[in-house]
Amino acid sequence: MLKTLRSVLRFRRFEANPDARRLATAADISDLREIAKKRLPGGVFDYIDGGAEDEVTLAGNQSAYRQIGLRPRVLRGLSGVDTTTTILGRPSPMPLVLAPTGFTRIADPQGELAVARAAARAGVPYGLSTLSTRSIEEVAEASDSVEWGSEGERRLWFQVYTWRDKGLVKSMVERAAACHYEALIITVDLAVLGRRERDVRRGFSLPPKIGFDTIVDGIRHPGWTWKFARSEPIRFANVTGGEGDDGSTAVSLAEYTNSQFRIDLSWDDIEWFRSIWDGPIIVKGIQTTEDAAIANKVGVDAVCLSNHGGRQLDGAPAALDLVEPCREVVGDDMEIIVDGGSRRGSDLLKARALGADSVMAGRFYLYALGAAGETGVDFALDLYQTGLHRAMALCGVSRIADIDRDLVA
Ligand code: LAC
Repeated sequence: MLKTLRSVLRFRRFEANPDARRLATAADISDLREIAKKRLPGGVFDYIDGGAEDEVTLAGNQSAYRQIGLRPRVLRGLSGVDTTTTILGRPSPMPLVLAPTGFTRIADPQGELAVARAAARAGVPYGLSTLSTRSIEEVAEASDSVEWGSEGERRLWFQVYTWRDKGLVKSMVERAAACHYEALIITVDLAVLGRRERDVRRGFSLPPKIGFDTIVDGIRHPGWTWKFARSEPIRFANVTGGEGDDGSTAVSLAEYTNSQFRIDLSWDDIEWFRSIWDGPIIVKGIQTTEDAAIANKVGVDAVCLSNHGGRQLDGAPAALDLVEPCREVVGDDMEIIVDGGSRRGSDLLKARALGADSVMAGRFYLYALGAAGETGVDFALDLYQTGLHRAMALCGVSRIADIDRDLVA
């Protein structure tokens, strides 16, 4: 009996590194989400995880991917699978862009630096948020500190919101140009802040305020609290020193954005950005075919079909559902990036099959950061890459360019 037992008993080797230990139990992004949920204070997790109002759009983004069935082809004599593609005309190891997310340091003190390094190692573009908690310059430096993991040069994009103070916006764009950011993402779906009711219920502020609830929450999440308390205070790293409030005192995000951002944005402002920025321009937050057509006419380089991860207007359409009709309207001229709801490599294949050039995703890396810091982001990016490779092999396609409409039901 002992002999039989010995032949079947297999203990996992003890992993001394706690991040690696947690990752060893994760198989997909939803596992990372669960781990992050346990490790992060409730308010922080809900700010990342939540959406606007009834969260119908938030759920719709994800279920749109699940509803797409595949039509795998077999016996195709594949000589291999190659997930490389181009994004904005430059090589990329897979059709994935890391979305800008605000306040990344609430998930992990390294914040945007960790994301920039992981993106650079994987060789995929990363869009830094204007509301980042590490500056344009710090992130450029972090990105350059690791070896770029793909053909060509490092790719950082810069996302802008339009502060009422135009001078501040212009100076941020100039700083991004000086640091060789490649493209500008202009987010147009935040005329006012959406009502994220989980945050309202918790009275969540940024940076998180220390009150009775937060102290209790902090005691229940000692790992996060210890790291948060030891790192320098969270602030809007790009705004410091200017006229805009740098967010170093706790603010309600709604009050902040509603007082600092412009409600009166128009297509003329896109022209203004053209006059101050030489590189590619991506308009993020397009939610109808009509606006995709205007963007095409105006001549922007790409549209990002996005409802801000379901965080702005509840009731807005699932981003994936817009891909096919928007592709029909804009033809092949303009790149289409679809943002929100993807969780797997096979989702990249689905988006491509419907006509998108690439997928943008943000929450997944925040879950990964919350679960296991920078290694978590490496792990999550690998899940996307290997998942795409596997889905392509199982669908009988060897190149990204061969993924077409016939692959989805
Ligand atoms: C948000 C903004 C800051 O969605 O992008 O919270």
